[in-house]
Amino acid sequence: MPDFADFDRRRYRAVDVATGYDSWAPTYEQTVLDDMDLALLERLHRPPWDQVRRAADLGCGTGRTAAWLRERSPATIDGIDLSEGMLARARVRGIHASLTHGDVRATGLPGGSYDLVIACLIDEHLPDLTPLYAEARRLAAPGGVFVSVSYHPGWQLAELTESAIDGTWIAAKPKWAHLRGHPFTMASVWV
Ligand SMILES: C[S@@+](CC[C@H](N)C(=O)[O-])C[C@H]1O[C@@H](n2cnc3c(N)ncnc32)[C@H](O)[C@@H]1O
Repeated sequence: MPDFADFDRRRYRAVDVATGYDSWAPTYEQTVLDDMDLALLERLHRPPWDQVRRAADLGCGTGRTAAWLRERSPATIDGIDLSEGMLARARVRGIHASLTHGDVRATGLPGGSYDLVIACLIDEHLPDLTPLYAEARRLAAPGGVFVSVSYHPGWQLAELTESAIDGTWIAAKPKWAHLRGHPFTMASVWV
């Protein structure tokens, strides 16, 4: 698998997220192309964006994701980011109902409240994805959706299917009745 060094031709000094994005904030929107994330959001079949009522925008940055969402949805959008420089630009944009300076892995936002949790171009900064996924799950309302756009410089996904605990499983294993609906196994094909 390729790693960061395979792509790093400029050999910039590595800094922490807040320092890096505070410096990048003034020119960020001139360098990030919509093809990286917004074009992918356009291709998704769900959620029905116009029906989203409340969204948590994790790693909201300057508010690009929120601006895209606002064109499709009247949702109340709460943003959180580690970089004050990025948040200052989101504040000027004025789309978010609230902007929090904090970590996506422990947002302090209300649990079970969001029908959409969205994280665009953020997980490449996290050494471990488990806390992000756990926080997204905590934030999501029943039936809520987690949308993630992330770097993916490896195998190309050709097919994905999963099984959940359903009536067939519970007939075979009655003690699993309380697990009905939980995801269980997953098959993926990579090329
Ligand atoms: C590539 S930008 C994406 C911003 C925005 N979502 C977009 O699509 O334009 C990544 C953002 O994630 C933020 N970030 C990275 N790690 C974070 C963390 N652990 N908690 C909160 N924000 C974080 C950075 O400060 C930066 O604003």
